[in-house]
Amino acid sequence: MNLEQIYHPVKPGLELVEAKLAEISSDEIPLLSQLLQYALLKVGKRVRPAITLLCGKFYSYDLELLVPMATAVEVLHIGTLVHDDIIDNADMRHGKPAVYRAWGKNSALLLGDYLFSRAGSLATTTENLRVIRRFTETLMTISGGELREGSQTFDMASARDSYYKWISDKTACLFVMASECASVLSGCPEEQVQALKDYALNFGLAFQIIDDILDFVGDPAVLGKPVGSDLSEGASTLPSILYAEKYPKDRTIHAIIVDHRKDLVPLAVEKVRASGIIDDCRSIAQEFSQRASLSLDKLPDCDARRSLKALVAFVIERNR
Ligand code: IPE
Ligand code: IPE
Ligand code: MG
Ligand code: MG
Ligand code: MG
Repeated sequence: MNLEQIYHPVKPGLELVEAKLAEISSDEIPLLSQLLQYALLKVGKRVRPAITLLCGKFYSYDLELLVPMATAVEVLHIGTLVHDDIIDNADMRHGKPAVYRAWGKNSALLLGDYLFSRAGSLATTTENLRVIRRFTETLMTISGGELREGSQTFDMASARDSYYKWISDKTACLFVMASECASVLSGCPEEQVQALKDYALNFGLAFQIIDDILDFVGDPAVLGKPVGSDLSEGASTLPSILYAEKYPKDRTIHAIIVDHRKDLVPLAVEKVRASGIIDDCRSIAQEFSQRASLSLDKLPDCDARRSLKALVAFVIERNR
């Protein structure tokens, strides 16, 4: 299934999310409007609002609550990307110059702050304290997760575990929050809220592993963002970790991460690509995706469940 088919059960809801994004992209301050439109409109796959609506579709599907929630999740996501591109020194996002490249760092920092607060204010319209609490805690976890990257030591004994903790905090936690908030808002029984959170956690881990694979083998024109940047920014992700585990005598990755030998990045990328490690990473992503899919068996069979299953399968195959 392609994304359009997968999103079909929540299509009207997603259209309302787009309308809400357009609504919040107009402000009396012209520069702010320009920045908001640039960052928010006609960009990305909208995976997070889709998951939010799908997780809200098992019981009372109340779009008055779920549309602001799904929009809040996407706005929070885009805010983290605006800041992430500064941190990662990335030149492109969504097929165009990253916000900080086009408008400068000050504007990008302030836009990110604005988006975080806008997202929070959207979440409060649900008037559900559990939702608001979970929503506001999530940015703490994501920021902590982004900070872990800077303190990587490349100790092989703990590299894999720290990697999973890192991607769980910076990426999966947003999916988990989205699934919890949406299912709570729709009146889902607690055991099934937990099943959707398990789905979202494993989905998020698979999602980031694939992102990290695409940084080695993706096409920047299709991705709309640069590749090869994780290693050059000193981040060791699953492909480099598995490579270093498999070839302990080869110190290339170690030299890049620990001794900042950026000149070795093209060689390391070549070695990882030639090693078959990428297939191993894909199998690991596939395991998380199967776990995600299995969690859904605790939920009633319906179009939303079929789409959530298809979405995690799509993520494994994705090239963008
Ligand atoms: C990019 O997320 C950031 C990661 C967590 C890997 P997406 O790939 O979902 O970005 P868009 O919103 O579709 O551009
Ligand atoms: C995900 O990590 C970033 C956030 C969770 C904000 P990346 O840094 O790998 O994301 P991309 O590759 O820039 O989209
Ligand atoms: Mg990053
Ligand atoms: Mg990045
Ligand atoms: Mg990436």
